[in-house]
Amino acid sequence: MPSKLRTVGILTSGGDCPGLNAVIRAITKTLTPEGIEIFGILEGFTGLVENRYIRLNDADTSGLLTVGGTILKTSRNKPHKMPGADGTFRDMTGAALENYRRMNLDCLFCLGGGGTQKNAFRLMKEGDINVITAPKTIDNDVWGTDTCFGFDTGMSIATEAIDRLHTTASSHHRVMVVDIMGHNSGWLALGAGIAGGADVILIPEVPYDLEIVGQSLLARMRRGKMFSIVAVAEGAVSKEDAERQQEEIGKKRKKKGSKEIEHIKEPVSSILAEHLEDVTGLETRVTSLGHLQRGGIPTPTDRLLCTKFGTHAADLALKGEFGCMVAKRGEEFVAVPLEDVVGKKRFVTLDHPWVRAARDVSVCLGDVIPKGLEG
Ligand code: F6P
Repeated sequence: MPSKLRTVGILTSGGDCPGLNAVIRAITKTLTPEGIEIFGILEGFTGLVENRYIRLNDADTSGLLTVGGTILKTSRNKPHKMPGADGTFRDMTGAALENYRRMNLDCLFCLGGGGTQKNAFRLMKEGDINVITAPKTIDNDVWGTDTCFGFDTGMSIATEAIDRLHTTASSHHRVMVVDIMGHNSGWLALGAGIAGGADVILIPEVPYDLEIVGQSLLARMRRGKMFSIVAVAEGAVSKEDAERQQEEIGKKRKKKGSKEIEHIKEPVSSILAEHLEDVTGLETRVTSLGHLQRGGIPTPTDRLLCTKFGTHAADLALKGEFGCMVAKRGEEFVAVPLEDVVGKKRFVTLDHPWVRAARDVSVCLGDVIPKGLEG
């Protein structure tokens, strides 16, 4: 049966991320030959609220596969909470829905992380519109998919950074603490930490004990290893803070019914560095990778993944399957209903193979002295 699809919009929302352009390209290249008109909505949901867009066709997306960031620009604004010049927020959902109709859209593709999934779902429910999303984030924390696009690139950049930090660590007999992004999940720090051969990896899902981290480094020194690399996820949290937080979350949940697990936002790397310098007597330095992890060209793995996410999203639209996120499950790409995705996050589980592999190669995760370093 021929598709009823005539006009679609694409927007990119949340933090920029390598691979967004590759998904825009894949959707555009799949739909243009079908005679479908494509609007690229500018600056995420802001452009939808303000009716700002460009037209996209096959030629516009040539060469985009390797370009980082997003040609459509992005923002973290939500239609129901748009910031005004006076610092107040306004619910602009009505304007967003009106513009969807003004553009005659049959579907809106929203490329973004957890927040984007929520905003897309909200618009869909409130306006009865057709949306399809794809999971973007270097944090890899969108629920319902094995992998998010951008993660592989972020992990490669952080791994290369750890490789480079090894040089100074070993030449100077230093402890190098490296701050890795990931919001409240530890995928990026864990993946890059294992791939880069970090000696300690601290992630939010495994609250750490400062004493144990110090003891592990001393144990390494007793074995002649006079340097260490400590990879710290930005959401890493000490045991004490985690307990305190759980109590606070408990209280908050009772009050508001909040389901999200939050972690303390303060960076722990400086506290950690100070403690480790005291305990080991080794000079300690902190490196914060920050937005370098989101910059530049996507890896080949991400380019491939983005092409598949984009083409699958376009195929779903052609088939008239809306209200879903394209997800990777094993080697398959499937449509997961948005209502199943929103309000959840994908955290590292304690029995995940990466956690087991890290422990097997004597990485200290901050909770116990690793095997091979006891005594
Ligand atoms: O979600 C991606 C991410 O890079 C997180 O890892 C980090 O916590 C956050 O965005 C940083 O946000 P911003 O770019 O707004 O500083």
